[in-house]
Amino acid sequence: MNHIVVTGGCGFIGSNFIRLMLETYSELSITNIDKLTYAGNLANLTDLEESERYQFQKGDICDRPFVDSVVGKGNIDAVVHFAAESHVDRSILDSTPFVTTNVNGTLTLLDSCRSHEISRYVQVSTDEVYGSLGDEGFFTEETPLAPNSPYSASKAAADMLVRSYVHTFDFPAVITRCSNNYGPFQFPEKLLPLFISNARNDQSLPVYGTGENVRDWIHVLDHCRGVDAALRNGKVGDVYNFGGRTEMTNIALTKLLLKLLGKPDSLIQYVTDRPGHDQRYAIDCAKAETELNWSPQVSFEQGLQETIDWYIDNEEWTNNIRSGDYMNYYEKQYGDR
Ligand code: NAD
Ligand code: DAU
Repeated sequence: MNHIVVTGGCGFIGSNFIRLMLETYSELSITNIDKLTYAGNLANLTDLEESERYQFQKGDICDRPFVDSVVGKGNIDAVVHFAAESHVDRSILDSTPFVTTNVNGTLTLLDSCRSHEISRYVQVSTDEVYGSLGDEGFFTEETPLAPNSPYSASKAAADMLVRSYVHTFDFPAVITRCSNNYGPFQFPEKLLPLFISNARNDQSLPVYGTGENVRDWIHVLDHCRGVDAALRNGKVGDVYNFGGRTEMTNIALTKLLLKLLGKPDSLIQYVTDRPGHDQRYAIDCAKAETELNWSPQVSFEQGLQETIDWYIDNEEWTNNIRSGDYMNYYEKQYGDR
């Protein structure tokens, strides 16, 4: 594999994936296509700007002529599709961009890849398509899809389109579904970077509902290694789940963060719950372990400390985001909770 196209490479996971792939494979070059929405940030990849093995093309995955101009270049071995509207709370405020990008954008990309006979395609999906668990059990690749938020519904719709293209057109796709990622370069609307930033500024940490919801945390580089394994060794038409085997309630994670940051629990503010809030996510990743020889490498203890250190060392990165439009969003999201 010499040249791949990555979509959404200026976001959190996409930028970590591009950096990891270029570090891992010395012959590989990557074209990154990204619309630079509020979540896309060129600062996530400044270290690669001079690299001859990295190209950036600004554009929208819903724009077929643009997508064709990149995917149809003739030397593309694979497409890895990260680009999406990714934040559940924003999908509750306004679902439209989620359907536009996550459903129509995926369809546009699939059609372009099919017409240019791309020989490998990875759909980066999410465990949220499975819905919510009770106290027991895990999501497996066989769990029926039951998305609960507009975000997860749009991701499930995209997965169904991919599945149909495999079935109908022998399209060479695999689908990955991962649990909650943490690590550097995550947009500070998501729980961890938001709470780190708020705590550093002695602002309250808005915990939704009782804080007893459970998430299964995985380091972003473990997710990226999983996507790479699925890209190279996944079976066409198959789904692979990735998770960190690290379940934690939101309130336990919040208290741990405050302890590691040396801040008091009094910063915790319980606020009105997220509508339709999924109770628990937990991934059974046995299939990826057995068939892809993948397993999470980063311990949560070490990964969390390194992540906190990264946000402290790169406070300017967060501060550059937390102004203007971001503050309008913050007010809409948290103002009257
Ligand atoms: P992100 O919001 O940080 O980044 C999304 C990127 O996609 C941004 O750079 C944005 O500019 C770009 N983008 C959005 N709309 C676009 C469009 N129409 N055309 C081109 N580019 C566009 O998201 P993330 O957290 O890095 O998630 C990446 C992918 O991984 C998503 O598909 C998401 O559903 C999936 N995922 C995320 C997690 C998680 O914990 N963050 C877990 C599992 C799966
Ligand atoms: O499981 C994978 C999914 O994880 C990805 O598909 C999504 O793209 C990603 O955003 C993430 O979704 P969540 O909704 O789980 O992540 P978020 O960081 O928004 O919230 C994590 C938990 O923390 C969730 O139970 C809601 C809660 N929360 C979140 C925020 C932003 C709070 O209590 N307060 C907050 O302010």
